[in-house]
Amino acid sequence: MNEQERKQHIKATFDAVAARYDCDALRFFEHAAALLPEVFDFEGGESVLDVAAGTGIPALAMAPHLPRGTVTAVDLSEGMLAQAAAKCHASGLGNVVFQQMDMTAMAFQDAAFDAANCSFGVFFVEEMAGTLRHIAAKVRPGGKVVTTHFRAGSFGPLAELFLRRVDAYGLPAPPPGWLRVASEEQNIELFEAAGLAQPQVASHDVGYLLDDAAHWWEVIWNAGFCGLIAPLDENRLARFRQEHLAEVSELMTADGLPLDIGVLITKGVKPRQLENG
Ligand SMILES: C[S@@+](CC[C@H](N)C(=O)[O-])C[C@H]1O[C@@H](n2cnc3c(N)ncnc32)[C@H](O)[C@@H]1O
Repeated sequence: MNEQERKQHIKATFDAVAARYDCDALRFFEHAAALLPEVFDFEGGESVLDVAAGTGIPALAMAPHLPRGTVTAVDLSEGMLAQAAAKCHASGLGNVVFQQMDMTAMAFQDAAFDAANCSFGVFFVEEMAGTLRHIAAKVRPGGKVVTTHFRAGSFGPLAELFLRRVDAYGLPAPPPGWLRVASEEQNIELFEAAGLAQPQVASHDVGYLLDDAAHWWEVIWNAGFCGLIAPLDENRLARFRQEHLAEVSELMTADGLPLDIGVLITKGVKPRQLENG
C-alpha cells in the first residue's frame, strides 16, 4: 500500500466507525483529553490548532478553557468531523470550528496559531517528524506543541491476541504504527527531529476495567483496530468474533477485564528559528 492508499484506508476506517467512536469502552480518549488544559496552561485567549481531531474529544476538552480564544479542529475523515460538529453544537460551544484537511498538507498560513495539539494522530503517517514539523510551522514562535501517544504495553494481552488472530485469518497484521512513539525517548527524539525545543514527556495511566469480553469487542469495532478486520465477510467476521472473545474471556478477573492504557503526553516549544514546514 502506498501512502495515498494508506490515507484512503484510514479515512474509510474512521468514516465507518465515526458514529460508534464516542462509546463507553473507548472512554480512555476522554480521560487523555481531560489532561490537556493543564498541559497547555491556557491564558484563555489563545487560538489552538487541533490536528487529527476525530470526533472532537480534545477540542471539546480544551474549548471551555479558551473563553476568548478558538479551537480550529482538522481531520481527514468527514464522518468523524460530522460527529464533532454535532457534539459541539449540542454543547453550545461557539469557539470551535472544524475543517476537513490532511495533517501533512494543512492550508493554514505559517504561525497562524498560538498553539497546536495532536492526540493519537501523528503515528498514522509514515513521515512523523516531517508531519510534526509541518504542524509546528503553523504555530507562532514561542507557542506550545503537544502530542498524546499510547505508551508501550497499552492494550496488553488483549491486542496481542487480536493481532495474532488477524494474522491467523491470513490478514495483514503489521506492528501497530503507534509503537514507533511508545516510549519517552522516541517522543523526545520525534520532537527534536521536528525542530521543537524543550521537549518534556509526562506519563499517565488512563485505563480501566471492562465489563466483559463483549466490551473489548467495542474497543476493536469502534476505532482503528476495526480497519484490520474490514476485509472479512459476514460469516468469517462472526467466527472471528466468537473465537477471539472466547480467548479473551480467559483473561477475565473477578473485577472485570483489565484494559491497560498508558499515555505519553509530550510538550515542546516552537523555537524562533524553526524553518517553514
Ligand atoms: C484515534 S483517532 C484520534 C481522534 C482524536 N484526536 C481523539 O483523541 O479522540 C485518529 C484520528 O486521526 C485522523 N487522521 C489519520 N490520518 C490523518 C491525516 N493524514 N490527516 C488528518 N487526520 C488524520 C483519523 O481520521 C482519526 O479521526
